[in-house]
Amino acid sequence: MDTPPGALCRLDHIPDGVAVAVDAELPDGPENLIVLREGEQARAWLNICPHAGRRLDWSPGQFLISKGLLVCAAHGASFRTGDGACVGGPCRGQALRAVGVCVERGWVRLRDAG
Ligand code: FES
Repeated sequence: MDTPPGALCRLDHIPDGVAVAVDAELPDGPENLIVLREGEQARAWLNICPHAGRRLDWSPGQFLISKGLLVCAAHGASFRTGDGACVGGPCRGQALRAVGVCVERGWVRLRDAG
């Protein structure tokens, strides 16, 4: 099966409501992304916490999500899964950096690629 440009991962490899870590080649260089599935759509952010610049994973590639909040495993900052805004913890008022993605032929891909 041919993959669209900027393909990150298959949507059906992510359970609905779950986020995974995916390596991506962005225009500014390689980055690790948080890719969250919401039904047939996906959102993505840089896997860099605005508090101390750490990855948000609690275990490699796995994230704490509860009640619409993604929680940074380092010091507990809570980010809304809808828009990446930090609504609790040490960097309240800041936000994750969004990366534009879309779903095409069952793949999550970078929106700006190709
Ligand atoms: S690095 Fe995420 S809360 Fe501190």
